Amino acid sequence: MVESPGYVTLEIEGRKVKLPVVVGSEGEKAIDIGNLRRETGYVTLDPSFMNTAACYSQITFVDGEKGILRYRGIPIEELVQKTMFVEVAYLLVHGELPNEEERRNFSRLLNRNSLLHEDMRHFFDHFPQGAHPMHILSTMINALAAFYPNVDLKSMADDIDLSCARLISIVRTMAAFAYKKSIGEPVVYPRHDLSYCANFLNMMFDSPVSPYQIRPEAVRILNILFILHADHEQNCSTTAVRSIGSAQVNLYATISAGISALSGPLHGGANQAVIEMLRMIQADGDVKKFINMAKDRTNPFRLMGFGHRVYKTYDPRAAIIKKECNAYLERIHYKDPLLDVAREVEEIALTDPYFIERHLYPNVDFYTGILYRALGIPENMFTVMFALARLPGWIAHWKEMIGGATKIVRPRQIYIGKTLADTMEAMAVREVLTQN
Ligand code: SDX
Repeated sequence: MVESPGYVTLEIEGRKVKLPVVVGSEGEKAIDIGNLRRETGYVTLDPSFMNTAACYSQITFVDGEKGILRYRGIPIEELVQKTMFVEVAYLLVHGELPNEEERRNFSRLLNRNSLLHEDMRHFFDHFPQGAHPMHILSTMINALAAFYPNVDLKSMADDIDLSCARLISIVRTMAAFAYKKSIGEPVVYPRHDLSYCANFLNMMFDSPVSPYQIRPEAVRILNILFILHADHEQNCSTTAVRSIGSAQVNLYATISAGISALSGPLHGGANQAVIEMLRMIQADGDVKKFINMAKDRTNPFRLMGFGHRVYKTYDPRAAIIKKECNAYLERIHYKDPLLDVAREVEEIALTDPYFIERHLYPNVDFYTGILYRALGIPENMFTVMFALARLPGWIAHWKEMIGGATKIVRPRQIYIGKTLADTMEAMAVREVLTQN
């Protein structure tokens, strides 16, 4: 009950406590419980923070009911049409799109920081064959703190452009190196004459025996995919970054934690899981069987790429990716049978009451893998692509978090374990038993 624009009143054990109401710039309302425990002795309980805002933020706005996603107030539909990923990275970290000079300086920084320290390059020789590139990436990023020791928060925040460029550029090189190592090919070094996405594709697919033909259309698609994955407010991996970062851990170790969180199949790992699922459905041939498995609560099978904690309508990113996917595959005359399976799954699910009642729609991961396949990206690199794209989002949240009056993240709990009485009795019985 909002008693006045500013307060709600909570009545606890006969006492009335006024709690401030805060309203965000897009009208989101929250009850500020900052003083609740001090005033009432109570805490709130909200496992997985389904109803809890962890912070104020000015970076990204998501409206899950209307399917809206804006970075620093700009709709993603605008950004994919009018900007490149590197400009969106700058926007997320600095709050504004770069002007021509800022863009040039940032690109120069990215180029200057695109080379991996040669000693780090040899790390790849010691990962076992078949190591998942997300594990390699998380390890290598953590190791950056050993090679670039000015990792205290002040130095990293004072030169956020350098920290940001180093991560966004070197991690892209690390990802491509990890792929080349996994297929036993010589690594391809970054080039200063190529844009961010063109450089990545070249490092992934160029080889001494068959030079890679950089196609502008592929570069455009990769820019769109990276822009759409660049940030998504307080998702699991960003929450991990903000939590770990609140202990004043250096940015590299903090981002390494974000990579680990993102690798989960319920989060960024879903894009790889979608393709594995579509292939399973294609092999079986019975789409309805899998839809029914997903609806069966006794069955752990879930429709990967479907559903979202925040979007209760079509994920706006999925809508753009689906459109680009259809157009790109047609333009390059590439037929992917898994796209037909995906379309059939979507068509059946979107007319099924189970999915309709639970507001389960395709999310960002549902069609992404089809596009990555068309670009030639191997499946075990799909979540790495998500991580490369999400780096500026994580960095922006880290910068916002350390720039505020953030205290170390340390939630409360409700203890439901054994009481002293339980354990004293058990200890007494144990003592008797051991004496006899
Ligand atoms: C990302 O948070 C972000 O912003 C993340 C992300 C980002 O950009 O950072 O958007 C990226 O992680 C996208 C999500 C990728 N994951 C998947 O595609 C995995 C499949 N999806 C589900 O596991 C699930 O939908 C989640 C994890 C995405 C969301 O789970 P929630 O919000 O905890 O929802 P829930 O599990 O409580 O489900 C509510 C109901 C349940 O049924 P009932 O108990 O009401 O009977 O919906 C059902 C669920 O069983 N349900 C599904 C389902 N997702 C939810 N049933 C079948 N298939 C699914 N995919």
